[in-house]
Amino acid sequence: MKDKLNKIEEAALLAANEAVGEVELQQVRARYLGKKGEITAVMKGMGQLSPEERPLIGGLANEVKSRLEEAFALRQESLRQELMQQKLANERLDVTLPGRVQRAGFKHPITQVTEEVVGIFTALGFGVAEGPEIEKDFYNFEALNIPKDHPARDMQDTFYISEDVVLRTHTSPVQIRTMLDHEPPVRVVAPGTVYRRDSDITHSPMFHQIEGFLVDRKVTFGDLKGILTTFINEFFGENVAVRFRPSFFPFTEPSAEVDIQCVICGGSGCRVCSNSGWLEILGSGMIDPEVFKSVNYDPELYSGFAFGMGIERLAMLKYGVNDLRLFFENDMRFLKQF
Ligand code: FA5
Ligand code: MG
Repeated sequence: MKDKLNKIEEAALLAANEAVGEVELQQVRARYLGKKGEITAVMKGMGQLSPEERPLIGGLANEVKSRLEEAFALRQESLRQELMQQKLANERLDVTLPGRVQRAGFKHPITQVTEEVVGIFTALGFGVAEGPEIEKDFYNFEALNIPKDHPARDMQDTFYISEDVVLRTHTSPVQIRTMLDHEPPVRVVAPGTVYRRDSDITHSPMFHQIEGFLVDRKVTFGDLKGILTTFINEFFGENVAVRFRPSFFPFTEPSAEVDIQCVICGGSGCRVCSNSGWLEILGSGMIDPEVFKSVNYDPELYSGFAFGMGIERLAMLKYGVNDLRLFFENDMRFLKQF
């Protein structure tokens, strides 16, 4: 009996040390100290011992039992420690590592240029107006002296939504909307998105214009030239080469387009300027009396000028970008430069 108890103790200690994890240790404990465990079995069998042996073996069994209880408790504590150490190692944080820099967002170069242009004109006393991108034929064409079947409609390849509704092909309809709402004098710029069936390195089907117009008594072509020259010198600096070139628009008479010397080739000719050495940035002119009639302004009393510039063209020339489509490809390597 004594031998048996010693063997059970030895085996129990071994099993406890080999137990991996607390669950396994609980199972070992049950095997030896549980209700159906081996020590319990020995104690139950003591009835068959002689009266002399009984207290001896009983005492021994109790000692073994309490030694095992203690051993199990110690083992359990060390398993807990191990687990904790493991967890700490896995979840280790190196607080001395440098943090990851959060890159702040920035405005798209087209937005930056739009804001700069609007800023220059508001400083010259212009207000700011807006109009819808889905526009009635009346505002986009008719009121601008471009009746249906007029050959000038071919100048701008239009996206039609229906017979009478288009994606606006320019910001000029904002002239009509503003003049119908306000009596002269008016002095307004109107930035916005416009659409045409056009696509190459200097044309895109969606692009941006900024319209500007001024109506008052005795406004002359000299005023138009003065304002546009002031703007160009503010935006590009004093040294940029500019040319006013006679042109035609149904809603202005006389009309002029303005070209800036190509910054990509310095004027010697390249694919961006179609070998001309110049890039067109805007159309302009003195507002046609027919337009004044459609907004009920008296052409005998008032005169005015208007212009519409291409924002992408301004951005290309300012930053030396050789393909307008780069602005819309959302390549961060490109956009990050601005
Ligand atoms: C017009 O759109 C006239 N509404 C401008 C105007 C306003 C004239 C007021 C007179 C009075 P045009 O089609 O030339 O004109 O376009 C004006 C400018 O927009 C061009 O000089 C060019 O800089 C830019 N532009 C034209 N088409 C595109 C395109 N597909 N992609 C990028 N920019 C363009
Ligand atoms: Mg043009």
